[in-house]
Amino acid sequence: MASSGTAVSLSNVRKTYRIGEPVHALDGVSLEVPRGSYTAIMGPSGSGKSTLMNLVGCLDTPTEGTVVVGGQDVGTLGDRERTRLRGTEVGFVFQTFNLMPRLNAVENVALPQLFQGVGRAERLERARDLLERVGLGDRTDHMPNELSGGQRQRVALARALVNDPAIVLADEPSGNLDTDTEADILDLFDEFHAGGTTMLVVTHERHVAERADRIVHLLDGRIERIEELNGASGSQPGTPAGQEPGGSDE
Ligand SMILES: Nc1ncnc2c1ncn2[C@@H]1O[C@H](COP(=O)(O)OP(=O)(O)O)[C@@H](O)[C@H]1O
Ligand SMILES: [Mg+2]
Repeated sequence: MASSGTAVSLSNVRKTYRIGEPVHALDGVSLEVPRGSYTAIMGPSGSGKSTLMNLVGCLDTPTEGTVVVGGQDVGTLGDRERTRLRGTEVGFVFQTFNLMPRLNAVENVALPQLFQGVGRAERLERARDLLERVGLGDRTDHMPNELSGGQRQRVALARALVNDPAIVLADEPSGNLDTDTEADILDLFDEFHAGGTTMLVVTHERHVAERADRIVHLLDGRIERIEELNGASGSQPGTPAGQEPGGSDE
């Protein structure tokens, strides 16, 4: 049962890819993501992190089990309905950015609003505002191939946030960023989280994961353990970087 307090619910989710030998990318995952929570997902390469994000992002359907997003069972929806659900509920920052190569930065960021019936002037204004917030106010007219990897990442992030989605999914959002930019992006996540957005962030980096309320550790397509982080909720930018009191034995 999807309660109104749950943003995402996975029950006994399997995702099996069949190209020759079947690969169980997810092998029986159950997870409740409360509305407004901030969850980090960690795990070695190949443990199923991106597969999980693609399911929650309504880009794919499970082989077995159920994925409920915003109260809707993703597996029962047709392509169009899934696209609509994705457009209204989810902002996705892909590991590979997926920017439109023939659109400049501000047009890329404005794109998701097209499907929300927002007028052009308002779309571009909102897109510029988001680009400012990710530190790219001076790059709005650049094409993706005229931007560095980190800048493209930030355009992708601005695009994910432009519709003010209920759920933000970010797959390795800080992978290509320098330390200052990374801190800005993480502060922006905190800001959205403080505003009630549900955050789901895949990362290899412990200090990125520690911004979350909890860390879900994946291993071989299963949840190995869930680590609750003390007082991580709404962590303030500017808080002195202290040791996390939660007893981590890594
Ligand atoms: N489209 C696909 N077709 C076949 N196998 C896939 C596909 N996507 C992922 N896999 C396999 O599923 C497993 C999990 O992949 P993935 O979710 O991308 O892991 P992670 O993001 O944790 O590195 C890996 O073994 C990967 O090779
Ligand atoms: Mg991945």
